[in-house]
Amino acid sequence: MRQIKIGILGLGVVGSGTVRILQENADEIAQRVGARLVIKKIAVRDLGKPRAVTVDRALLTDNPLAVIDDPEIDILAELIGGVEPAHEYVLRAIHGGKNIVTANKEMMAKAGHDLMEAAGERRRDFFFEGSVAGGIPIIAPLKEALAGNRVREVMGIVNGTTNYILTKMSAEGAAFEDVLREAQEHGYAEADPTSDVDGWDAQYKIAILSSIAFNSQVKVEDVATQGIRHIQARDIEVARELGYRIKLLAVGQQEDDGRAMQVRVHPALLPLSHPLASVDDVFNAVLVRGDAVGEVMFYGRGAGSLPTGSAVVGDLVATSRNILSDATGRIGCTCFEAKRMLPPEAVETKFYTRMHTADRPKVLASIANVFGDFDVSIESVVQKAVTDDDAEIVWVTHKVPQSSLRGALDVIGRLPVVRSVNNWIRVEE
Ligand SMILES: NC(=O)c1ccc[n+]([C@@H]2O[C@H](COP(=O)([O-])OP(=O)(O)OC[C@H]3O[C@@H](n4cnc5c(N)ncnc54)[C@H](OP(=O)(O)O)[C@@H]3O)[C@@H](O)[C@H]2O)c1
Repeated sequence: MRQIKIGILGLGVVGSGTVRILQENADEIAQRVGARLVIKKIAVRDLGKPRAVTVDRALLTDNPLAVIDDPEIDILAELIGGVEPAHEYVLRAIHGGKNIVTANKEMMAKAGHDLMEAAGERRRDFFFEGSVAGGIPIIAPLKEALAGNRVREVMGIVNGTTNYILTKMSAEGAAFEDVLREAQEHGYAEADPTSDVDGWDAQYKIAILSSIAFNSQVKVEDVATQGIRHIQARDIEVARELGYRIKLLAVGQQEDDGRAMQVRVHPALLPLSHPLASVDDVFNAVLVRGDAVGEVMFYGRGAGSLPTGSAVVGDLVATSRNILSDATGRIGCTCFEAKRMLPPEAVETKFYTRMHTADRPKVLASIANVFGDFDVSIESVVQKAVTDDDAEIVWVTHKVPQSSLRGALDVIGRLPVVRSVNNWIRVEE
C-alpha cells in the first residue's frame, strides 16, 4: 500500500492526541484513505521531556527544519501554537511544496489569509479544522456542505474555559475569582487565563469563522471583544429569575444587503429556549443560520487532546485523499469580497442593565425619562427592595444601538437617586 509521509511540529496536548489516533486507528484509516499515513518525524523543544504517547524516540528531533525541509514529507502538521515561529515554519514548508494541516487559531486569525494564498499559488492543501472549536467539525461544513447558502449568522460558544466558569458560577452562585481559581486547580484554566477570560481566544475563532461564512477577511483588531471578568454572581442569579442564561458568545452577522458585517465577542443573556443556552461546562457549540438550510447547530468538545487530534487527523485524511487523486489545492482562501465592518456602537441588540437606587417614589420615572431622552425603549423593568432605602432595579430594553444605551447610562449614573449602575450586558434573542 502506498505511504503518505507526515511530519509533525509539536508533541504537546494536540500533537500527542494526533499521534495516538494515527497509531491506534492506523489500519482503519489506511483502508479509508487507500494509503498508510506514516509519521516520519516529530519536532519538539525538549527531547528529554516525558510524552503522553509512546513514540519511537528516533522520530523525535529538536530541529524543526529537519521536519520542514525533509523532501519525503508530504504533509506538515503544525501543532506548536502562537504566531511566530509557527508562521515562519509553515510558510517555509509551503515554499518547499508541503501540504499543511494546523490547529493554530492565533496564526490563522492573524496571518491565515496570506498563508492560504501562498498554499493556493503552489496548489497545496491547507486545512485548519482543529483551530476552531477543537473536535467539532465546523470549518469543512461551512466551506463544503453549507457552501450553497448565504450565511446570515454564525454564533457560538467557542471557549470551554469561560463556559465552564459561567456554568459553575451559575450552579454554585460563586464569584468569578473563586471559580477561576478552582478551574486553574483542576486544569480547566491556564495559569495565565487572559486569553480565555478576556475573550481573545474566542475573538480568533470568530474572526476565522466569519471570514469563511461571509467570504470577507475579518481582522482580529476589528472584532469588538469583551470578556467575562465583570460578570457578577448576582447578574447570573437575576438573569436566571428573568428566564435567561449568561454565556460568552462569539457572534458574526451579515447585514441584509450583504455589504456589511458585524463580528463581536461578549457575554450575553440568552433566553432558556435559545439553542445555545443549554450548552454547559467545557462544551462548545456553533449555530449557523443560512438562507437555504435555516438553523444548523454543531455541538461537542471544543478542546482537548483526542477531540482536537480528531480534527487534525480528519484534515490529514482529506489531504491524503487529495494527494492520491492529484487534487491538492482545490479549496484555498474563500475571502473574495471586502465587506464593511460595523462598529460595536452601531450594533443594535436588547440590553440588560442592573442598578442600585434610593427606594423612593418617582425614582423609576426619573430613570425612565433619561432612557426616553436617548430613545431607549424599555421591554421590562423589575424592582426589588434590598434594604429600607435601597432598591435594585433591573431593566431589559428593546433593541437599541449600544451608543444610545451607554449615553443613557452615563446620565443615569449621575442622577442623585442612583447609587450605582452595576452592569450592562447584551441580550440575544
Ligand atoms: N490544547 C487544546 O485543547 C487545543 C485545542 C484546539 C487547538 N489548539 C491549538 O493547537 C496548538 C497546540 O496546542 P497544544 O495545547 O498542543 O500546545 P502544547 O501542549 O503547549 O504543545 C506545544 C508543542 O509544541 C512544541 N514546541 C513549541 N515551540 C516549539 C518550537 N519552536 N520548535 C519545536 N517544537 C516546539 C512543544 O515542545 P515541548 O513539548 O518539547 O515543549 C510541545 O510539544 C495551538 O495552536 C493551540 O491553539 C489546542
